Amino acid sequence: MPRAATHPSALEFIPERPTIPKLWEAAQGCTACDLYKKATQAVLGVGPKGAAAFFIGEQPGDQEDLAGKPFVGPAGRVLDEALVEAGIPREEVYVTNAVKHFKWEPRGKKRIHARPTMGEVKACRPWLETELAIVKPQVIVCLGATAAQSLMGSKFKITVERGKLFETPWAPWLTATYHPSAILRMPDEEARHAARALFVADLIGVAQRLRAVGAA
Ligand code: URA
Ligand code: SF4
Repeated sequence: MPRAATHPSALEFIPERPTIPKLWEAAQGCTACDLYKKATQAVLGVGPKGAAAFFIGEQPGDQEDLAGKPFVGPAGRVLDEALVEAGIPREEVYVTNAVKHFKWEPRGKKRIHARPTMGEVKACRPWLETELAIVKPQVIVCLGATAAQSLMGSKFKITVERGKLFETPWAPWLTATYHPSAILRMPDEEARHAARALFVADLIGVAQRLRAVGAA
């Protein structure tokens, strides 16, 4: 495909008449960027088809790469607790990532998260867009800059746009908030506490929007 030669993209790996299970299977063979080489497996989204809220993180972390499920490690615990506080049941939302393979660098025996490039994010976007087309959510919630920039462009800044609502081609509403890992990385307890409060407030905003569209 000429498109793949100039702009490496997962488009050519997307199955016909895709379903979420078919996407999971097909993504295991994706070689549209180099990230598949060092990862255990591709991790796509989990949640009901028709979920009203669609959460997008950055990429699977160390534990997600091994478990083959999104947001099951430390960042997942931060997300779970905030969802509980906002009154949004996790089993009713769809949770996925902008990039499907874990990007990491060795540090001693540990695998340390490495940030995906814009090229990798773009290469992976067809998986995300196909998940969106299948789930058809009412509200997209971008967790952190990578997710937001994948859909809203590379100039999108979480610090500026956090908590605002945008209309998109993929869903009537999109909003962006902190990435749970960014909260965990805050330098001190006070900053962590403040960021976590804003994160929960943003998710309460999502819960209100879901009620407004009759989805909760
Ligand atoms: N961080 C993410 O962005 N996604 C996960 O699935 C886990 C950690
Ligand atoms: Fe394909 Fe995405 Fe994995 Fe790159 S990160 S190989 S685009 S599934």
